[in-house]
Amino acid sequence: MPKVIIPATQGILAYEISKRTGITLSYAELEKFPDGEKYVRVSEAVKGSDVFIVNSFHHMPDEMIIETIFLIDIFKSVGANEVVGIFPYFPYSRFRRFIGGEANRLKTISKLFRTAGLNKMYVVDFHLQNVEEFFDFEVINISAMPLLADYVKRNFELEDAVVVGADEVAEFWARIVSEKLGTDYKLMRKIRIDAENVIIDSVPDVSNRDVVLVDDIISTGGTVVQAIKALRHSGAKRIYAVCTHPLLSNEALKLIYRAGIDGIVGTDTVLSPISHVSVAEIISEEIRKRELDENKS
Ligand code: R5P
Repeated sequence: MPKVIIPATQGILAYEISKRTGITLSYAELEKFPDGEKYVRVSEAVKGSDVFIVNSFHHMPDEMIIETIFLIDIFKSVGANEVVGIFPYFPYSRFRRFIGGEANRLKTISKLFRTAGLNKMYVVDFHLQNVEEFFDFEVINISAMPLLADYVKRNFELEDAVVVGADEVAEFWARIVSEKLGTDYKLMRKIRIDAENVIIDSVPDVSNRDVVLVDDIISTGGTVVQAIKALRHSGAKRIYAVCTHPLLSNEALKLIYRAGIDGIVGTDTVLSPISHVSVAEIISEEIRKRELDENKS
């Protein structure tokens, strides 16, 4: 089955995946009208092909989601075989509980993608471990944490290090990083006040230890800034932060540096000044394994 990869955003990532998998890189016409509407046009040459759309829904998630729905729908209409999403960062996944009347945003997006014709998607460190419960199609959730741990090993000075998960949700990722680094891991507990403010209400003992703080997302930096204060209070020596998705909203990076971080790294699921680790190879590896073996051609 012929295959093409089409970037909506993340052109470099699409190029790197195409180079590593041999899948032909192609383009769609994407435009925005002066009134904000989106225009999408694709080549009919994709008829009968599996099409991989690369989009990381950061910065303007709603716009990118509607653009992706247009792309999925038009690819299906011109006769594409499978339409597969490569969505390294997937938004609307951070919520705890529902109160009456609140939109289940993730579920709605999931329905829209399904209805448009999406067959499958690849994501990286989706915020929820039970991701498959939200989507009626196959989801391949890949972790970038082993790569981030390798980066930490190679670039940060560590002595008697301990990995600290930014909250209970981060335990899954903290464990992966600690195993890779050969350290133990501990967890903080936080209470979120609003979108920018958190209180750390429980911090582990890290006296005289270097700390690798692990989270999936750094958005406003509120969590990392408060964590730095709490960890220093608890006796930490050097403090490094790693995350998969460096959204770095507003002045996050400035606030984090000002709080005294000793090193920080994220991946290129979202392009940022700290995106020093690329997820191109781990996504390509999964694609080679699942889509390109001989039985599937
Ligand atoms: C939430 O549960 C996530 O794992 C992150 O801890 C959170 O998104 C970080 O956000 P911020 O940088 O705005 O504190």
